Amino acid sequence: MGELNDGLLRPRAAISPKYFYDNQGSRLFDAITALDEYYPTRTEAAIFESAAAEIAGLVPAKTILIDLGAGNCAKAERLFPILNPAAYLAVDISSEFLFEALQGLGQRHPELPRQALAVDFSAHFELDDESTAWLSHLGLDDRPRVVFYPGSSIGNFAPDEALGLLQQVQAVCAASGTGGGILIGVDRVKSRSVLESAYDDALGVTAAFNRNLLRHLNRILGADFVLDRWKHLAFYCDHKSRIEMHLESLCEQTVRWPGAERLFRSGERIHTENSYKWQPQNFAALLTRAGFTPTQHWTDADEWFSVFWATV
Ligand code: AVI
Repeated sequence: MGELNDGLLRPRAAISPKYFYDNQGSRLFDAITALDEYYPTRTEAAIFESAAAEIAGLVPAKTILIDLGAGNCAKAERLFPILNPAAYLAVDISSEFLFEALQGLGQRHPELPRQALAVDFSAHFELDDESTAWLSHLGLDDRPRVVFYPGSSIGNFAPDEALGLLQQVQAVCAASGTGGGILIGVDRVKSRSVLESAYDDALGVTAAFNRNLLRHLNRILGADFVLDRWKHLAFYCDHKSRIEMHLESLCEQTVRWPGAERLFRSGERIHTENSYKWQPQNFAALLTRAGFTPTQHWTDADEWFSVFWATV
């Protein structure tokens, strides 16, 4: 809770976007991915579909497939026929969601060994003792490891944090020798109007997603945010190549939670998310700095989104 307290009391209040994803927030995010304005999900899915044969030719079969931010595991499951993994490790913050998803997966793919790793990998990523013991029990400790990180979730990290995470992913892949790598989806720099409507849709789903963070804080911090006193803001910041999301106070108000309170003036903001957009050459350079060899990159006809395969 210290992190939340500190974030709310900072002169420019900020809360980590990981707090979007309580049950309701995860549902709202699913709804966002189906919106006309939110192009990343369907664009990435189309790239995977059209590049399937090439991906199958490049990524070795019978690897350990490590799904970062697995959620309901659906994106990875769609790739099983292409990647043909020997075992599947689903990594996500929310254990409840993960175990449920893996149960369903077990019914559809009973032959595929699977395991959940419930960690906040945004802070630090490595395989825990349980996961390494599971791999050695299966006799798969030397198999190449392929990390799957779709959805442009890497965009929610600042470039230096993204580098740190990719270096940790590289170390996990390299620990079992060569052959492995990362298959990662990255959102690209594009026109302001396309970007801004993707994060401020006409139906107000993204606004509800942003405000739901306050409901989540009321529950876990015991705060007394009144949701309709906060306005959703999303804009593209050119010089940082990122969408910023904020919640803006619609009036002067005091918010209280156990042990602290804060006065927000009308127009004061809480910064809730950054979503960085990349030029492909800059992202390839980032992968190289993290120790990977960027091997192949696919995009869509509009060049709005990219999928990279980079090896260790
Ligand atoms: C999860 N992440 C990649 C999404 C994004 O596009 O940055 C989260 C999101 N925020 C608002 N809409 C979607």
